[in-house]
Amino acid sequence: MPSPRRLLALAALLVSTAAIIPPGHQGPLNQPPPAVTAPTTDNDAIAQTATQVNQKTAPPVDTPPNAVIPPVSVTAIDGTVTNTTVSDVAPNSNSKRRRRRFGKRQSGFEKIFDGLAADQHDASIEGTAYLTYTVVSNATYNVQDCLDWCTTIQGCEQTSADNRLTLKAADGESTASLTPDTPDGYELVFGPTDGANNAPGYMGFSFIDQYDVDACAQLCNGRGADPNGGGCAYFNIWRAVVNGVPTTYTCSMYYLVADESTAVNYGQGDLVVTLSRGYARKSALIDGGFEGYTACDTFCLTASYANWIGTSPSGGDTDASIIYFPAYAHTGNVSALLGAAFGDDADAGTLTPAQPLQTDSGANYVVQCFMASAFSGPQIEATAKVDILWNGVRVGGTSGYTEYTFVQASVVGTGSDKLSFVGGAAPAWTFIDDCKVYKA
Ligand SMILES: *[C@@H]1O[C@H](CO)[C@@H](O)[C@H](O)[C@H]1NC(C)=O
Ligand SMILES: *[C@@H]1O[C@H](CO)[C@@H](O)[C@H](O)[C@H]1NC(C)=O
Ligand SMILES: *[C@@H]1O[C@H](CO)[C@@H](O)[C@H](O)[C@H]1NC(C)=O
Repeated sequence: MPSPRRLLALAALLVSTAAIIPPGHQGPLNQPPPAVTAPTTDNDAIAQTATQVNQKTAPPVDTPPNAVIPPVSVTAIDGTVTNTTVSDVAPNSNSKRRRRRFGKRQSGFEKIFDGLAADQHDASIEGTAYLTYTVVSNATYNVQDCLDWCTTIQGCEQTSADNRLTLKAADGESTASLTPDTPDGYELVFGPTDGANNAPGYMGFSFIDQYDVDACAQLCNGRGADPNGGGCAYFNIWRAVVNGVPTTYTCSMYYLVADESTAVNYGQGDLVVTLSRGYARKSALIDGGFEGYTACDTFCLTASYANWIGTSPSGGDTDASIIYFPAYAHTGNVSALLGAAFGDDADAGTLTPAQPLQTDSGANYVVQCFMASAFSGPQIEATAKVDILWNGVRVGGTSGYTEYTFVQASVVGTGSDKLSFVGGAAPAWTFIDDCKVYKA
């Protein structure tokens, strides 16, 4: 015989359950989620830090020629000056580094300044983004050999006026900008322009010592998730020119994808923004925010639509659904629900994309979502549980009472992959929203 206290608790549970209007009937949330404003770019911190870093280098006197180009350095993180490498900052990112030599490419150099006459004291450059040096035949003043060699060095001709060549005497030559290769897992959104993004969803910035979009991509992939906004979804790389001198390269990171319309920070004080490009991280998951479900404009739900399929076990009713109702969504208007939408049974539903995910076989990916098991309050939702399955194998999930929380799981692509979310047991419902499947 249960103790009177336990009976009382059971009775309270029954009463509270009975009072709950299910999500399928547009029931109210146990507690409205706190309003969160997405932070925008902290331009002051970036400009301030740019005055503190010193990235000017030249070959040390005892370095042999043709030395391997050192890895990209991270010289500042979120306003703190550092001296570290990208792989130290983002150890789990497997974005491929394309630091290989090219065959001879089309070169297009312009002369930036002349050397002095032979009898006058001259000087070589100490500048930002020094890569390496070589020696050429001293039979003539051998500019062409220098240019030919430069075109074989990745990065040597990517940006203009960075003076990456150390010539025998101090003539400077540089190239017009070439478009860098888009990093693996990303797409170019805009650029190059002279405006940096001033956009919402800002996560922070790093300075690097070369204009290297792959390094920014690695930093974005390795950036810890924002608890309200999720993983890094976009970066903006640009070159800071201070008093006319290229000084550093900024990677600003965002959990919201920005575009050229907010690339309106042209600089401040002595700092001028140049070579600004935006790159968005590609998600292998189509419509992971469920916003493609637009069957109404206030409240409606469905078990399936073009992009997602919800299924119930036999005898179950609407155990997985997609609900258009902004109050339930993490962002936008729509979210998915696991657990019988109308409270008719306590079966677990299954939600899966309509198409298998197209991935690169063998590549690492990360599944990211926001999940909330809070609808019925802490007591009832204590048993809530959702599993993330990748080709039928559990790779992660959520359990217990929680407001919208960032959840992620690491997976490996096979080329065509089936993602599914399984769980919910009404009245311990779980909402899912803003899912992404990014290359790690
Ligand atoms: C950064 O660290 C490396 C390795 O520890 C060192 O060789 C280099 O001098 C440092 N650079 C600066 C600017 O402190
Ligand atoms: C080139 O270098 C060699 C070896 O150091 C030296 O003997 C020769 O005089 C140099 N030629 C010129 C034109 O400077
Ligand atoms: C949500 O609905 C509103 C009103 O219909 C619409 O303006 C808005 O674009 C929708 N949001 C998304 C993310 O689709």
